[in-house]
Amino acid sequence: MTDKLLAGIDIGSSKIATIVGVKSAESDDISVIGFHSAPSKGVKKGLIVDIDEITMAVEESVEKTERMAGQKINQVLISVGGPHISSLNSHGVVAISNPQSEIVEADVNRVVEAARAISISNTRQVIEVIPREYVVDGQAGIKNPIGMTGIRLEVDTHIITASHTNLKNLDRCLSELGLTNSGFIFAALASAEAVLTDTEKELGVVLVDIGGGKTDICLYVDGALSYSSSITVGAKHITNDIAVGLRVSLQSAEKIKLYLNQYLQNKKDSSKRDTELNLTHLQLPENVSTVTLKSLTDGIIAPRLEEIYKLIEDEIEKSGFANAVPSGLVITGGGALTVGLIETGRRAMGMPIRIGSPSGVTGLIDELLTPQYATTVGLLLYGQKNIITEAGWKNFNRILRDINLGNSVSKIKEFFKQFIP
Ligand SMILES: Nc1ncnc2c1ncn2[C@@H]1O[C@H](COP(=O)(O)OP(=O)(O)OP(=O)(O)O)[C@@H](O)[C@H]1O
Ligand SMILES: [Mg+2]
Repeated sequence: MTDKLLAGIDIGSSKIATIVGVKSAESDDISVIGFHSAPSKGVKKGLIVDIDEITMAVEESVEKTERMAGQKINQVLISVGGPHISSLNSHGVVAISNPQSEIVEADVNRVVEAARAISISNTRQVIEVIPREYVVDGQAGIKNPIGMTGIRLEVDTHIITASHTNLKNLDRCLSELGLTNSGFIFAALASAEAVLTDTEKELGVVLVDIGGGKTDICLYVDGALSYSSSITVGAKHITNDIAVGLRVSLQSAEKIKLYLNQYLQNKKDSSKRDTELNLTHLQLPENVSTVTLKSLTDGIIAPRLEEIYKLIEDEIEKSGFANAVPSGLVITGGGALTVGLIETGRRAMGMPIRIGSPSGVTGLIDELLTPQYATTVGLLLYGQKNIITEAGWKNFNRILRDINLGNSVSKIKEFFKQFIP
């Protein structure tokens, strides 16, 4: 097996980040050889609102990454998130083709296909079908049924769907740039690959990616992805609140927010909440030179964080798995760096909370291993796990996943016809 190149573009509401990694023949590690991040354009709350703007931004990001890596990028994995994402769990049943011998891969593919054949509106598209557990002749909890014997094979799958229009817009942007789409990946699922431990997934955990314009959520129970969703509040709302509260522009509010974070990191004793924060060196156009720490943290930021936690709690409730996540919340995304995030969360949620930073890659990683780039790093890890095989690229599965399965049987037939000589 030769070295394999993997690339991903994390299209966020705040930044567009492109990453390229190499999976070497010798080791299992994926080594980052190129990376670029710049402010996002043409995206709001995970939705494309201006194709031209986003195409230009992606083009620049890809070019700069290619230059750094010294490699041409041809195929990319794309992150998608935001409130257009929804999920459901679907069950499939098949008779095993040869009950006298073992269950083979073809049986597994067939049963997953059966679970996948759901009826969805033609405005939506399936982007992910993940088996949660298999059942062989009534025996549940099986992770991999291949090699077992039985008559009846069942599967529980988790299916993620996204807005067809939004995916089409992303595809248009990629094809204009001559890039092949290796698959759409839900942003929180990519982040989960980069920050969660296997133990957390086994015990039950909620991955929360607080981005700029939205918060994406993935919930794991018994090691399996069981609920995915997104809420329309992100860390930009905190910036908005600071802007309104201090009567400054959004740019100034963002500077104040980032400075506050830096200030408290450098200061060991953050208990003196009546400290006046000196803002003169930020040279804000508005004549705001000081602000009390307490008014910022307790008066402006904490109430917004409480609201975000309330919405997360509602999602966990909606999932039906509220009692199955003893590992609590793992929070990532740029918003995870918000001041007071852990304290407010522990008070509001009454469950363990930690901040998740990405890990699992080597190479050019100095600026990468912060929560902001969890999805970006996760794209490579997800790609490594699901796309690269001994034989090379395994796009087949992903292509199938990305087909709209509203009227699945005819579409799949059409799809296979392309390959028949
Ligand atoms: N040090 C910090 N302190 C506080 N907030 C921060 C810090 N660094 C980044 N942020 C906030 O994180 C947000 C950006 O997060 P991120 O880069 O994960 O968003 P994104 O992936 O572009 O957006 P989305 O996932 O919503 O589409 C911004 O609102 C920014 O203010
Ligand atoms: Mg993001």
